[in-house]
Amino acid sequence: MPGIVVVGAQWGDEGKGKVTDLLAEHGDAVVRFQGGNNAGHTIVRDGVEWKLHLIPSGILHAGKQCVIGNGVVIDPKVLIDELEALRAKRIDVSSLRVSANAHLIMPYHLLLDSAGEAKLGQLQIGTTRRGIGPCYADKAARLGIRVQDLLDEKILKKKILAAMEPKRLSLRPFEKDPSLDLKSMIDEHLTYGHRLERHIADTSKLLWELLEGGASVIFEGAQGAMLDIDHGTYPFVTSSNPVAGAACVGTGIGPRAIDEVWGVSKAYTTRVGAGPFPSELHEELGDEIRRKGGEFGTTTGRPRRTGWLDLVALRYAARLNTLNALAITKLDVLSGFQTVQVCTSYEGAEGATFEDFPYHQTVLHHTTARLTELAGWSEDLGECRSLSDLPTAASEYLQFIEAATGVPIALVGVGPGREQVIWTDAGRQTLLATDGGQAAGQLNVAHSRP
Ligand code: GDP
Ligand code: IMO
Ligand code: MG
Repeated sequence: MPGIVVVGAQWGDEGKGKVTDLLAEHGDAVVRFQGGNNAGHTIVRDGVEWKLHLIPSGILHAGKQCVIGNGVVIDPKVLIDELEALRAKRIDVSSLRVSANAHLIMPYHLLLDSAGEAKLGQLQIGTTRRGIGPCYADKAARLGIRVQDLLDEKILKKKILAAMEPKRLSLRPFEKDPSLDLKSMIDEHLTYGHRLERHIADTSKLLWELLEGGASVIFEGAQGAMLDIDHGTYPFVTSSNPVAGAACVGTGIGPRAIDEVWGVSKAYTTRVGAGPFPSELHEELGDEIRRKGGEFGTTTGRPRRTGWLDLVALRYAARLNTLNALAITKLDVLSGFQTVQVCTSYEGAEGATFEDFPYHQTVLHHTTARLTELAGWSEDLGECRSLSDLPTAASEYLQFIEAATGVPIALVGVGPGREQVIWTDAGRQTLLATDGGQAAGQLNVAHSRP
């Protein structure tokens, strides 16, 4: 496993943090390649919950190289706070390297994100208001401030002035906002530069050297395929490409360095923010899944919308990413339903059937889910560590997903804890490639029941 990409195969919050942390244990490096602190990735170890927004989910493993790639947008204050919080908990963050080419989320991006949402009123996207969209917009407009600019006062000042000039009108309501005071903005950012300097590097070269040397690198996606700015439910999307193809662009490595692409999906579906969601459940059932799954946003605390597993969207994500493995998380949350349902096709406005994800926004907005009912199970799955521990109905549920997507399941989540996982043979194959067989051997011992 020299290069393995882990991406969200739904609308985000699938459990990428947990899956990345599990793979990182056997890999050498973890790199984030897109998004910013709109992401919230949770890892639960020994009952302690860790929430990471910018720093890769490999950081909890001592000695692993962690990298924030050029495709990530960085709010420097958030990054420094996150580093501090980890240090305070005695996590060694010295290995973190941040691309000098990554773009910075500036104070005006935060204000413009909120202002943009307010202006949209009823039509708002429901962004995380972390300044993601305005920052990527400046990057495309070639008005972005990059990490390297923090190290040069003259350039920093020039670039901030150039970036703010075309925004004068939209920033007028914030004229008195202290975060926009030019002098303090520059001073503050120079301080950020000093504090981050030792982490700033040519991360593309660093990753190339690691891969050339045979190291295993995990590319940790944020958000999910359905939030992709090109392929998701535009305009109700994020402003980056969470699909696997972006792992190369967002880190500066070529496609031939990628060996595997893992898609993470919950056993059901959630979405935060506005936009189409054909399999959404509005009544008590939706509330029950939200309650059992603890479906409240890691970043904003917002209640997540919930629904049955959408296999049309999952097949689409499998194609967009050329997934070779699926990690199905939160299977435990579906325990206790007499029957469970999955969305196998969409019904269009005039009764048309869609087996494939419709490319046209209007068509998609008028679709509803056609559901297939499967047997439920009542057993608690929290202690299951192999497929044979699962109740028959739960196994059949997983088989149904594999058959519908054509993608083998590599691991199954049966609880939030990092040990609450079932590795399948497909998953073990990946680990075999990661660390020369040691990993799979360890797993057999660690996860087989006495
Ligand atoms: P990410 O953004 O994809 O990393 O996912 P989040 O961390 O935002 O949300 C996933 C949530 O589900 C977190 O609270 C995890 O601790 C939790 N989680 C992950 N896998 C499982 C699982 O298999 N079962 C249960 N019950 N919770 C899980
Ligand atoms: P992780 O990495 C779930 C959603 C927001 C909103 C849309 C645009 O934890 O899976 P943005 O702030 O990016 O401009 O908001 O995207 N969104 C996410 N939803 N998980 C995430 O990240 C998300 N990051 C952004 O809710 O609908
Ligand atoms: Mg999340």
